[in-house]
This record gives sequence, C-alpha cells and structure tokens, in this order.
Amino acid sequence: MPYKMELTAEQQAILDGSKGATMAKVMKTLVMYGETFGATKMVPVTSKMGHLVTSFGLGVMKPVYDLMDKLIEDKCVSGQQFTVDPKPLDKNVPASLIEKLVFKKFMYTAQDTYDAQLSKLGIVSDSAYTCACYLDEVGNTPAKGEILSWAESSAVVYANSVLGARCNRNSGIIELFGSIVGFVPYFGLLTDEGRKATWIVEVRTSKKPEAQILGSAIGMKVMEDVPYVKGLDKWLGTELNDGVKGYLKDFGAATASNGAVGLYHIDGITPEAVELGEKLIADGAKTYVIDDAELDRVKNNYPVIWKDKDAKPKLCFVGCPHLTYNQLVEWTENVERGLEAEGRTKVAIPTVFTSAPAVIEKFNKTSYAARLKATGVVLSYICPLMYMNNPLCGKKPVITNSNKLRTYTSSRYYTTDEILKYITKGAVM
Ligand code: F3S
Repeated sequence: MPYKMELTAEQQAILDGSKGATMAKVMKTLVMYGETFGATKMVPVTSKMGHLVTSFGLGVMKPVYDLMDKLIEDKCVSGQQFTVDPKPLDKNVPASLIEKLVFKKFMYTAQDTYDAQLSKLGIVSDSAYTCACYLDEVGNTPAKGEILSWAESSAVVYANSVLGARCNRNSGIIELFGSIVGFVPYFGLLTDEGRKATWIVEVRTSKKPEAQILGSAIGMKVMEDVPYVKGLDKWLGTELNDGVKGYLKDFGAATASNGAVGLYHIDGITPEAVELGEKLIADGAKTYVIDDAELDRVKNNYPVIWKDKDAKPKLCFVGCPHLTYNQLVEWTENVERGLEAEGRTKVAIPTVFTSAPAVIEKFNKTSYAARLKATGVVLSYICPLMYMNNPLCGKKPVITNSNKLRTYTSSRYYTTDEILKYITKGAVM
C-alpha cells in the first residue's frame, strides 16, 4: 500500500521486511499513525533512552502480553534501554486485607511475568520504575532538541517544556514501537511550527500561584494547545534551579491531565522561551488572564465525588508525579514543624509520599529518612493512581495535592498548605 509520507531507503526497506515481518508491522503501525496526524516523514529517535507508560501487569491486558511475547520471540526488542512508569504495588502502603487480596488476585495478577517481559525488552533495572524518569538521580534526562518516543503525559510535557526535547503525546505501545524501530513520525510537537504558542497566559496573581491549580486552570482552558505563560518569572525568578524544576514538574502534570498540554513555554525561564522569547507566539494567539479570583474559581469548581463529603480522610497521597529529592526534604521538614506546632509526634492521617526508587535510595542514605519515618509517613515508589484503581480503595476518602490524581480518581484535592494542615492537625482549618 503506498504511503503519502516520504520514507528513506532504510525506512522503506524495514517496511518491506528487511528486518523481518514483525519489525515491518511495527514500522507500518508507526507510518499509519503518523499519516493520521499529517506527518510528512519519519525521523530518528535521538535520545539515549526511551520511557514506557505501561508498567502495570493488569490481568485483563492479555493482548499486550501476547504482543510483548511476539516482539521478544522475533527479536524486535528495543534498540534503546528504557525507564518505565511506577510499579502498582508496595506492601508498605496501607491497605486492608481484602484490598490487598483484590490487588493480588484480581488486578495486577500478571505483574511478575510482565516485569520479566519488560526486562527482556530493555528496561534498565528495578530502579527505573518512575514517571519522573528525567530526574538527575534516575538519569533518563534528554538534552535540548533530542527526539523522544515517550507517552507518559507528565514526562512528555516536562521533557518538551523544561528540557526542550521534542516528543509528541503518544499512546502506550506506540511509544514502545518508536523505541524498537528507532523512528517516529514527524508532526506536531516535533516541528518548529507545532511548538509555537497559540495562547498567551498572563499571570496576574498577588502571590505565587499554587503550581497544581495554575496548571489545572491553563490545561482546562487551552486543552491540547501550546501556552506561552507570562508573569510567572515574578514568582519563580529566571533561574531553572531545582525548586523551579519541581514547581514546573507539578504545574506541567496538571496542564497535561486537566487538559492535554504537551508543551508550555514560561517567559524568561524555559529554554525555548529564553532563546526565542515572544517569537514563539503564533499570529492570532488568544489571551487568558489568570488572577487570584480565577484560581479560586477553578479550585472551587472541582467536584467532590465522595459518598460522604464530610468523611474523615483515611489516606493521603503526596507525590504524583513522583517527588524530587528536594521536595522530599522540604516535606519532611514541614511535617516535623507542623507536628511540633500541634504537639503531636505522628501524622493524624495515614500518609504516603511517593518518589522514584533512585531518589528514595539517595534520601535513605541521609538522616532525613529516619526523621520522616518517625512522623509516621510512609515513603513508597508506587503510582497512587494504580492504588486508587482498586475499586475498594477508590471508595475510601483519600486526599491529595495532585491535580492529576484528583482528575483520574475519586481522591479529593487540597493545596499543599491544606494537606500539610490536614496531616499534622487532622483537620484542614
Ligand atoms: Fe506518576 Fe502515577 Fe501520578 S505515573 S504522574 S504517580 S498517576
């Protein structure tokens, strides 16, 4: 079947079967996917590592495991090593006996065999299971301009915006195919034109906006478009330091989950905005002004879908996306301070902080690890969303400061300050 897309001799040969029938199908899938989005050509994946979104061994995903087996059997393994999203289970995370039974017997029943498949396909190691793969400790940190084949929305938006790499918001499996064959279709956020902002967002708040609410507001307004955000440098400064990167990680995940943003530019801060400034703004871009009232409006409109809206929270998750090392340290100090002010020694609500295995390893080598443990907070590598996918866990009143977790589950959103009050005092007021 003739394709409109221009293919190199090497790409055409793969499509014609030079690397076997299975690899030809992988290439064909990517070409068809690209043509759907008007891609003009296939370009090489240039990043050192890939990242896969599908980390969970849900029993019902049998077609995925069959596909993996076929790829492995026909030696269509990833040309790249890769990291992968967080694991779904950790025995340290509080769950009742019956909830644990549901996890093990009805949900993630294929986890061990799926992990074995991932390792044959090219996963780096057990420490590679995190959505924040771009953190220094993890090491999957693409350089500016590199072409990626990723799908995890919070990682794609971070890589595009904060690192200046180039990646579309692919789906799971498509991103694996790109890593395997080494090419991705050229369209959307891979192109200069597709990286131009069609929205100007003017931040006019009286204080530093909560990252997760600002991101949520922008995501819901611009959906899949690219926003150019002005006025945030007033609160963040212009240095892309660890604190700012942590803020933008949380902000970006909210834009990507409350909307479908894959790239944002922050005036004076993110690499392309520093380099090109307002030349990144497309003709006819629309404007969205965000002030204190707008952030309040957005937050107050989040639905609370708990059966009993006044229920006392049974669990709190912080760390979706996974916390950075500095965020872990800051949370530890803040929880200690909050407990001391309340005359308590342990958190008032079972609380789980989640972070990348490599960050946890670093944190555990410091005195902060014992200090956090003493507060009663559990430190885990899991994905809270996969925990909440358990229908029994989904019925529990769970609170979080993650707007992504709020969007995809029944958990209730509170700001970081409110969460701190809740877990150290037992009430938000
Ligand atoms: Fe990461 Fe899971 Fe949240 S993949 S962004 S911790 S939903």
